[in-house]
Amino acid sequence: MEIKINKVAQSRASEVDFNNLKFGTVFTDHMLEVDYANGEWQTPVIRPFERLTLHPGNAAIHYGQSIFEGMKATRNKEGNPILFRVDKHVDRMNESARRMCMPEISREIYEEGLRQLIYLDKAWIPPMDGSALYIRPFMFATDEFLGVRPSENYKFMILLSPVGPYYSAPVKLKAEEKYVRATYGGVGEAKTAGNYAASLYPAKLAQKEGYDQVMWLDGKEFKYVQEVGTMNLFFVINGKILTPETDGAILKGITRDTAIQLFRQNGYEVEVRKITIEEIMQAGQNGSLTEIFGAGTAAVVAKVKELRYKDQSIYLNAENYPIASWIYDQFIGIRNQSIPDVNGWVEEVTADSLVNA
Ligand code: COI
Repeated sequence: MEIKINKVAQSRASEVDFNNLKFGTVFTDHMLEVDYANGEWQTPVIRPFERLTLHPGNAAIHYGQSIFEGMKATRNKEGNPILFRVDKHVDRMNESARRMCMPEISREIYEEGLRQLIYLDKAWIPPMDGSALYIRPFMFATDEFLGVRPSENYKFMILLSPVGPYYSAPVKLKAEEKYVRATYGGVGEAKTAGNYAASLYPAKLAQKEGYDQVMWLDGKEFKYVQEVGTMNLFFVINGKILTPETDGAILKGITRDTAIQLFRQNGYEVEVRKITIEEIMQAGQNGSLTEIFGAGTAAVVAKVKELRYKDQSIYLNAENYPIASWIYDQFIGIRNQSIPDVNGWVEEVTADSLVNA
């Protein structure tokens, strides 16, 4: 497969202050871009990062055919980029594509394009544990047409952005009783732009009340816990780890799946099932609930220190969360290769691993 590469004359990497990164504000020297036209993906191009020019009738702007992924590259002690579970991210992007009536991205373009881009911009990977080069693959419709139908043309791109922790301190959540993120049969499981748009107004209201984020409940009975929108949720009750089962309305988090596997492989008991908000609140009141945390690519592991539901709040000692801290250390250690990767999840990108460097 051919990838055209047009490099910048001068890298900006040396200007970056890795100690002061605001999530999603800094972008690397290059980006990958490939168009879908006449029923097939065209030649991918890696080129200097710059703005796009769009037709005002762009179908994605009007009708929302827009999907994305979130991944991270870290570096090992040799300074080589480390990618994590790339195949799972390609699979999930293509599940999102099918649901949103978009073409699947070629695995070869996604994976080889990503390797080439990461290798080219590897100087942008922050060296500190907990920081990373955030990878944002995304695809959107590019038809210039105002009728409602699936677009015939698309663009797939990958951007890279050095980031620090998404949440820098334990968070306060409010269980939402009025608004819904996603419901059964909808697009909650797809990583599509509209799910995030739907979360903004309720999150803004919750923030006005002093909460960081909304804990979504199911859209039918407002009874079952779903997720936080930026991350999946875990609870520790009587020493057992609980996480909501995916049901089509919850994002199938790859960090969630990684955590479940690591917990089970290391002797923790994990229950994946429907979880009611009432049982969480009850466990919070009787002291059997000892930890709540979120897990996601951007968030990594975010400890929750307060949960509000109706007129009750539970407060937890998030400074002392042994299970959340253990899984955080696993994620960091596997990604910097200080913990053996027994599951074959990490991939080191070297000059030799590139197909047509
Ligand atoms: C990620 O964790 O990669 C996400 O996509 C969440 C986000 C909206 C920052």
